[in-house]
Amino acid sequence: QNLPGKTAFITGGASGIGLGIAKALLGAGMNVVIADIRDDHLAAAEAELAGGERVLPLKLDVTDRAAYAAAADAAEAKFGKIHILCNNAGVAVVGPTELATFADWDWVMGVNLGGTINGIVTVLPRILAHGEGGHIVNTASMSALVPVGGTTIYSSGKAAVTAMMECMRPELEARGVICSAFCPGAVQSNIAEAGKTRPADLAETGYAEADKRRASGGNFMHLYQTKEDVGQRVLEGILNDELYILTHSEFLTGVRERGEATTAAVQTHLPENDEYKQTFAMLFRNPAI
Ligand code: NAI
Repeated sequence: QNLPGKTAFITGGASGIGLGIAKALLGAGMNVVIADIRDDHLAAAEAELAGGERVLPLKLDVTDRAAYAAAADAAEAKFGKIHILCNNAGVAVVGPTELATFADWDWVMGVNLGGTINGIVTVLPRILAHGEGGHIVNTASMSALVPVGGTTIYSSGKAAVTAMMECMRPELEARGVICSAFCPGAVQSNIAEAGKTRPADLAETGYAEADKRRASGGNFMHLYQTKEDVGQRVLEGILNDELYILTHSEFLTGVRERGEATTAAVQTHLPENDEYKQTFAMLFRNPAI
């Protein structure tokens, strides 16, 4: 990727990880569009980035498809083309699965998965149309790879946006668009405030008590990685065309154990049928066949 002068469109780009990515890409010479639902975050981020004409703050709710198309139009009107799409806007609820209401599922899935789908459908054709190549980075989470009890809704959505990148990668690579799944561990951010942007029609939650208990619990934010650290890691992942952009070495054992457990669970016996073997050897690249 030759980044200087090209344009990145970053959802949830006005706070936390998205802002860290915006800083890193701006530092690499790109124009950055920070698209975010919160006006206060947009104003503060614009001041923090101090990128002048190379920064375009846009108010956007990623679940609103018409607004998403209008935001992409505005980005193109300002910078000409979009080259990098960072599907990063995200919210979270945490707690026992049996307490989840439909509204809890719909809100988190609507933003984290639905917003990412809206980004792909809206922006991917625009990237392919200009033919200059591009990159898509979905912000997933380590929780997509090393699931933690009590994060069912959140981790299900993060696993989905990881799989989205894994599937799109081989499909789009030959056409000059690289896909990456960014899976960080804990990062200093404002995600604990996510409830402030929860729509009134999805307000009914099963986690009110769990949220109160969590708010009165310990705060380990000072131990988390900074948005600048992970922003630089995303830049490095883009420059190196990495499929998995991972951080946080404390998850290494969990990632490895999951890989080993899934590998060990695969049946090794193959039917004695040459057509079957040849067909599936080709499809799934099994060197043992
Ligand atoms: P954050 O709350 O600091 O930043 C997220 C931004 O997204 C906020 O500015 C918020 O206003 C915006 N946003 C929320 N809903 C939106 C919507 N419907 N449309 C447009 N913008 C919206 O949170 P953080 O932590 O930086 O989260 C960014 C991404 O990173 C999320 O996808 C999150 O799930 C993921 N993540 C966060 C981790 C962490 O430890 N902070 C760890 C792993 C993944």
